[in-house]
Amino acid sequence: MATATERKEAAKSEYSKLLRYPPSNMLTWGEKKWFWVPHKPEGFIAGEVLKEDAKEVLLRLGTGDEQKWAIDKVTPMNPPKFDGCEDCAELSHLNEASVLHNLRKRYDHDLIYTYSGLFLVAVNPYKRIPIYTPEMINIYRGRRRNEVAPHIFAVADESYRQMLNNRQDQSMLITGESGAGKTETPRRSSNTLPSWRAARAPPAWASSRRSCSSAILCWKPSVTPRPIVTTTRLASASSSACSSPQVVKWPALRSVSICLRRIA
Ligand SMILES: Nc1ncnc2c1ncn2[C@@H]1O[C@H](COP(=O)(O)OP(=O)(O)OP(=O)(O)O)[C@@H](O)[C@H]1O
Ligand SMILES: [Mg+2]
Repeated sequence: MATATERKEAAKSEYSKLLRYPPSNMLTWGEKKWFWVPHKPEGFIAGEVLKEDAKEVLLRLGTGDEQKWAIDKVTPMNPPKFDGCEDCAELSHLNEASVLHNLRKRYDHDLIYTYSGLFLVAVNPYKRIPIYTPEMINIYRGRRRNEVAPHIFAVADESYRQMLNNRQDQSMLITGESGAGKTETPRRSSNTLPSWRAARAPPAWASSRRSCSSAILCWKPSVTPRPIVTTTRLASASSSACSSPQVVKWPALRSVSICLRRIA
């Protein structure tokens, strides 16, 4: 039978395998320069710069075509060392194409969570990934956001810590189109609280059964009515939920500020 240390080591290695982007050997393109160009249906495709002046750029696209583009219609691409970065805010060229590319790169490795500044973006995997196990909960317990890979547990832990430190209710916003995972995600994170509560509630709270249990009850997502005014994207969403960690399926990210204003 495995010892406690062996089990801990196994959990750590599982965590790295499932939640960290694999290191890449390719960090730069050398002399090359690339841009993103708009493309249907891909969204954006990469183009290598063959010639560039102040107004126009000649690109060789991934399809093999050579095309001239106005410089203000293309967006700069980050070198490969940024592929799979955990917070899109760290991208040196922060634009829609680069953010989508980063999310896609991570998704290809089943990394469904990525930060985008204060927000956690979740892309629905449509399959079970073993990242919600009790071992994972332990890894995230008491760890700060920048110490661990993006995960709903990190957001849950931060909220729980804020609740303990400030003794104030914490509410969060989940938004996304229908099927994005708004219901599933808080369900997953609610498992974290019973174990964290036992380990971290201050003595005063531990003696007050009522405070603790009501804190847990409040964690359950409360579904709010669909906003009266919605964007085109949100029109397909059946609900928006608060009192659960911030999760945004990428296509709906622009709708967040609308939801925040309406809930506040
Ligand atoms: N993190 C996840 N891991 C595995 N499967 C997931 C995850 N998130 C969502 N899913 C899958 O996607 C389905 C749809 O997710 P969910 O019901 O949470 O969407 P929703 O955003 O609440 O949609 P609606 O607005 O229609 O209520 C789930 O039933 C589940 O199968
Ligand atoms: Mg739902």
